[in-house]
Amino acid sequence: MDASKKYFTSRLLQWNTDVNDRHMPWKGEKNPYKIWLSEVILQQTRVEQGWEYYNRFVAAFPTIMDLAKAPDTQVFKLWEGLGYYTRCKNLLATARYIADECRGQFPDQYEDILALKGVGPYTAAAIASFAYNLPHAVVDGNVFRVLSRFFANNTPVDSTEGKRFFTALANELLDKKQPGIYNQALMDFGAVVCKPQLPLCTQCPLQKKCGAYLTGMVSNLPVKEKTIVQRTRWFFYFVMEYKGRLYVRKRGAKDIWENLYEFVLLESPAPTDMEEVKRSPGFKKMLTKNAYTAGPISKIYSQKLTHQTIHGQFARLHLKNAPELEGYEAVTEKELELLPFPKLITSYLKDKNVSLNLL
Ligand code: ADE
Ligand code: SF4
Repeated sequence: MDASKKYFTSRLLQWNTDVNDRHMPWKGEKNPYKIWLSEVILQQTRVEQGWEYYNRFVAAFPTIMDLAKAPDTQVFKLWEGLGYYTRCKNLLATARYIADECRGQFPDQYEDILALKGVGPYTAAAIASFAYNLPHAVVDGNVFRVLSRFFANNTPVDSTEGKRFFTALANELLDKKQPGIYNQALMDFGAVVCKPQLPLCTQCPLQKKCGAYLTGMVSNLPVKEKTIVQRTRWFFYFVMEYKGRLYVRKRGAKDIWENLYEFVLLESPAPTDMEEVKRSPGFKKMLTKNAYTAGPISKIYSQKLTHQTIHGQFARLHLKNAPELEGYEAVTEKELELLPFPKLITSYLKDKNVSLNLL
C-alpha cells in the first residue's frame, strides 16, 4: 500500500482514539439485532433524529422475537415521522423471517446478512463489521466524499466508474484487524470533521496529506454528475366528520407514504386554492346530495421528500349524511390516535389538536 493510504488509515484511527468523542446509543453495540435496527433507521435519517427512535424501538422490542410478533400498525406507529416507510415494512419482514426461518438467530455471514430484505451493501458491511468483526468496508456518500477529497479525485461519485473506484479504494484502506472500529471511525470522521459543508480542515488530522486541502479543491469535491429533478405536488385534505367519526384510508404502494394513513384527498396538478378545489367535480361527486358545515381552512403545510415537495392544506367538514367515498373507513378519534400518518398530517393534527367537538 502506498504511503498516503497507510497515512489515511493510521491517522484516522489515531484521531478516533485521541479526539473522537462522538457518542451514540448504538456505538460499540455488539448485538446484531440492535446494530441492524440502528443501521436501518440511519439509512435515510440523520443521527440526531434517529437517536430517540432507536431508543424507543429497543425499549418496545428488546429482542428480534419481540419485534417479529408485534402487530404491523404498532410498528408503523413507532416509525411515524421517520419517513421512507419501505424501511419499516422490510424491518418487519426481516424480523419475522429471522424469527420463523432462523430460530431467531441473526445471520453471521456477510452474504447471508446482505440477502436480508432492506439490507444493502452498506448496512451489511456495518452489521458484519460491528457485530462479527468481519472485514467489509462501509461505502456510501459520506465515505465517497472523504475519499474524493483526501485523494483529490474528481471522478463523479455517482457514476458507475466512480462507485467502482471509490469502493475498491475504501476496501483497500480498511483496517482488516479492526474493521468495526475503523468503519465507525470513518463514519464519525465524515460526520464531524470532513462534513459536506464547511469541513473542519484547520483541525483535521489528515490535513498534511489531504489532496483537496493542499490544492484548494475542498469546496469542489466530491463531483456529482447528476442533478435530481424535483417535483411539486398540491394535496388538499378534507377532514370529514360524520356521526363522530373521521374518514381515513391507508395509502397503497407505488407512490409516497405507502401504508400510512390520510384523510380524504384531492390532489391538484397545479397550484390552486382550497375554495377552488371545493368547486371541482371531484369534490362535488364525493358530497352529492350532502350538506355540510365547513371549518376554517388550514395554513399550507409542506414536506420535502427526496424527489418531491408536497404542499398540503386541510379543511374540516361536518357532514349531515354519510359521504360517498370509495376506499375510506370511518374511525373514532381514539382509533385515529393509533394510526400512523405522514409528517405533513401529524404536523397539522398537532397544531389543530383535531377534536370532534370543534364544529
Ligand atoms: N450512519 C449509518 N450508520 C451509522 C453509524 N453506525 N453511526 C453514525 N452514523 C451512521
Ligand atoms: Fe476533509 Fe479538510 Fe480533512 Fe481534507 S483537510 S480530509 S477536506 S476535513
